[in-house]
Amino acid sequence: MTTATTTVSSSAVALDPPTLRLRSPDETEAKVAEEYRYAHLLPHFSTDRYPPLTPFDHVDPGLRALSLPNPRDFLDNATSVTELTPNIGTEVTGVNLATLDASGRDQVALEVARRGLVVFRDQQDFIDRGPDFYLDWGRHFGRLHIHPTSGHPAGYPEVHLVYRDANSTFNFEIEGSITTTSWHSDVSYELQPPGLTTFFLLSSPDTGGDTLFTSQVATLSRLSPQFIAFLRTLKAVHSGIEQADFSRSGKRGATVRREPVEHVHPVVRKHPVTGAEALYVNRQFTRRIVGLKREESDAILRFLFDHIDKSADNQARVKWRPNTVVLWDNRITAHSATVDFKETGERRHGARITPQAERPIPASADLDLGA
Ligand SMILES: [Fe+2]
Repeated sequence: MTTATTTVSSSAVALDPPTLRLRSPDETEAKVAEEYRYAHLLPHFSTDRYPPLTPFDHVDPGLRALSLPNPRDFLDNATSVTELTPNIGTEVTGVNLATLDASGRDQVALEVARRGLVVFRDQQDFIDRGPDFYLDWGRHFGRLHIHPTSGHPAGYPEVHLVYRDANSTFNFEIEGSITTTSWHSDVSYELQPPGLTTFFLLSSPDTGGDTLFTSQVATLSRLSPQFIAFLRTLKAVHSGIEQADFSRSGKRGATVRREPVEHVHPVVRKHPVTGAEALYVNRQFTRRIVGLKREESDAILRFLFDHIDKSADNQARVKWRPNTVVLWDNRITAHSATVDFKETGERRHGARITPQAERPIPASADLDLGA
């Protein structure tokens, strides 16, 4: 199901892209004199308009790695491989992602599918190769998603940026909440949401701004077999409307380049490579369970969202260091930013490369998702 919403209001369209002030007021003159190393990657809010996305066939690169004699030989030169927690996350040092060949990239996809999250340290080579390389990297894993509302480097709409400094925020943040924690799976409202996702920070606060991750495989597995069996019969509506309305209200660059959509996905999806079953609902984008009465849907979703929120035993927390590149499998994990550094006015500037994957596969073959 694809639902277009109201047209972009004329007032929102008329807004000029915001002017970025790159420096916080308390920076010293010496710092002001320095050019920001990644100024060419600062957010640009073009007023381009894009048509609806069209379906495509996705062949997961992790599948190719399954047939290799050793699908982990990309780690042969690693100086450390450390599991962050039992349920999610591995941290790797000593591997230069930028120099991996096609087979190495396939292996990365498989490793991330198995661990949900892999953190690669010391990736200055990767980060400094710049946006043309980012696109080449991402296209290995799938068709690159262009975000409908976020900022991107000028000329590179496929590179999704997060950005905050003393003078501006271009993040999708809802004010008036007691927390900035907002668990989600990126753009789950798309018909074919992202799979293997790459994210790195170009500039980060001295402390804070960590990213939280949770395994939706573990989240599901903690439920009782009877309840899982029920969830496998359900499908839910995911919506991009609120995110678009946030931009239309004048925030985050005030641009909506593609009309928001809603799509129906299984509540439990199956990974196409590992076969792992994962809970696939998130507070940010999942709105209702199809076919249930409103109160039933609200009660079940609230229970599942609370379960995701509080299950620290399914989670890992990435503390950023310079030149860290993080990869996650967006199909079987959820994540949240942590905006705990507002008072310092420091810059946090990140880039995400977001290949789309298959339409979510229901864990139950009997579940009819409709057209
Ligand atoms: Fe996200």
